[in-house]
Amino acid sequence: MAAPIIHGVRTVGVLGAGQMGLGIAYVSALRAKVPVLLLDKSKEQVSSSLKFMDKLLAKDVSKGKIQDIEAKEARDRITVLDYDTHGIEGFRDTDMVIEAVSENIQLKRTLFKSISEAVNPDCIMASNTSSISITKIAAATIPEGVSASSEQGRKYAERVVGLHFFNPVPVMKLVELIAALQTSQSTLERARAFASACGKEVTTSKDVPGFVSNAVLMPFINEAIMTLEKGVATKEDIDKTLKLGMAHPMGPLQLADFIGLDTCLAIQQTLYQGTGDSKYRPSVLLERMVDAKWLGKKSGKGFYDYD
Ligand code: 3HC
Repeated sequence: MAAPIIHGVRTVGVLGAGQMGLGIAYVSALRAKVPVLLLDKSKEQVSSSLKFMDKLLAKDVSKGKIQDIEAKEARDRITVLDYDTHGIEGFRDTDMVIEAVSENIQLKRTLFKSISEAVNPDCIMASNTSSISITKIAAATIPEGVSASSEQGRKYAERVVGLHFFNPVPVMKLVELIAALQTSQSTLERARAFASACGKEVTTSKDVPGFVSNAVLMPFINEAIMTLEKGVATKEDIDKTLKLGMAHPMGPLQLADFIGLDTCLAIQQTLYQGTGDSKYRPSVLLERMVDAKWLGKKSGKGFYDYD
């Protein structure tokens, strides 16, 4: 079956095959039905992510959510690019690249510069960042010596947009769409159409630290960590209070483990540095746990222990 064209997007590149990148590749291939090129420096990460994806597809088939043929077609739409052979150059013929690497502004700026040099002049460059300024990322795409306000400079930066998916991507229904100061209307429309084709509802947020989602979620998580730090209640009772008292699917400490404590800390630091507001200051306990490399579910230990 020929791949659909969603607002000019025929092929998508996904940079980063961690839990977010894997989920984005999954919904792009299964829901939007577009070919996906997946790129990650770590071969181990790619291989464990693909194993997890196979399990998810098999589970969806066994539950009757999708047909066997749909699962096979989705899997066939995903091509893994070898980092050593292709690098970011492998995204040359894609119409949209979605970056899903860790929350590090320098890393993202360097990668977006490379992406902008590699891809064609119509390609959308989207970041799945949880909190970092899309405007700062967009500015990194302008070649040296080119003025940001010139037509040439604007043609780079106007194709950068924030496309913030939620974990687990196959399950969560939302994508937050963030326009940088430089983002064009056409980029926004194309990105919105793509997120909808992935089966997501779309909300928009201004480019402020943490956008809407994490500016609200992270103080909530941090407050729960400080409540634990102060000895007000056990971790189980803090989580149970929010789960049973307020019908949250997970308690805040369990959710922090699920997101990744390093990711929570990086977002909180971005919020605190970006606003100067003490309500965003990360708790000492969170910092210490990240120092100890207790990063939550992915590392086997966080507020709780995992197999
Ligand atoms: N990947 C894909 N699918 C997953 C999954 C994963 N990592 N984890 C669970 N699922 C699927 C299961 O396979 C199951 O699918 P099914 O209905 O077809 O069987 C379904 O989700 C429900 O799973 P379970 O029955 O095992 O468990 P729960 O009912 O407890 O649901 C949960 C698990 C969906 C994770 C639920 O606890 C939940 O919604 N938690 C809150 C998650 C949340 O708030 N996410 C947002 C985090 S913030 C964020 O991402 C922003 C970032 O910037 C920090």
